[in-house]
Amino acid sequence: MERQRIIVGVWKDRLTPVESREAAQILAQGFPSGSVSYIAGIAPAVISTLSVRDVFRDSALVTVAQDVHWPADSGSYIGSTSLAMLTESKISYCMVGHSERRRFFHETNEEVALKLKGCLDSGIKPILCIGDSENDPDARAAVLSDQIQGSLGDSELSARVDEIIVAYEPVWAISTWRSERGLPTGSEVAEMLALVREILEQNTKTDPAKVSVLFGGSVAPENADDYFSQPDVDGALVGGASLKPESMTAVFRAGESAWGGD
Ligand code: PGA
Repeated sequence: MERQRIIVGVWKDRLTPVESREAAQILAQGFPSGSVSYIAGIAPAVISTLSVRDVFRDSALVTVAQDVHWPADSGSYIGSTSLAMLTESKISYCMVGHSERRRFFHETNEEVALKLKGCLDSGIKPILCIGDSENDPDARAAVLSDQIQGSLGDSELSARVDEIIVAYEPVWAISTWRSERGLPTGSEVAEMLALVREILEQNTKTDPAKVSVLFGGSVAPENADDYFSQPDVDGALVGGASLKPESMTAVFRAGESAWGGD
């Protein structure tokens, strides 16, 4: 399976439905109508998912779910969105295990694994988010190994990691939680993603060279060119900078200039 390049703007719960629709319209107008060599998407808040999907209908932009609940039977899981709802709504990408879900909703590796399996079984491509808050490289490797082993260690998933997109988002680089530490340069990002691939190699049965690995954490027009020029950076999750259509469009353009159009 070919590695896919992908850039996703993640609106979290920051834009209202009206703001989301307006921002989606501006993005759709500014996005090239010809084919591009990467997937460009937006993950709106759940309440805006269908209206954003409708705005994107005639464009190349895709709508990504921020989360999903895993049980195969939709039913008594109040407040959640089922896999069946995503498939019926033609949402074919879904984020799983974002650090804010782990932190505020106490999502565990076991739940993340169930969501990953559910997505794959439903034909939805999951974007598995992993991340640490560590300064020390050994401590970082231990946290990432635990997340990768805990969510992908299962024998079935372990052999299917090339069907999953992995996004490495160090919590200290995420704009809302950013520490005093400066943001990484492109080559530092490349080094961190190499560590992720090393840990994938140790803990799964999939060749990590076949796995798309993205970076997330304060990606913006100012650093996107540097990040995307690194051969092993397959794209990004973009939070704060995605809230303004002009800066999201600039990040998409950085992808286009790094990877070209078809
Ligand atoms: P940020 O968020 O770009 O605002 O740092 C990224 C994320 O949380 O996925």
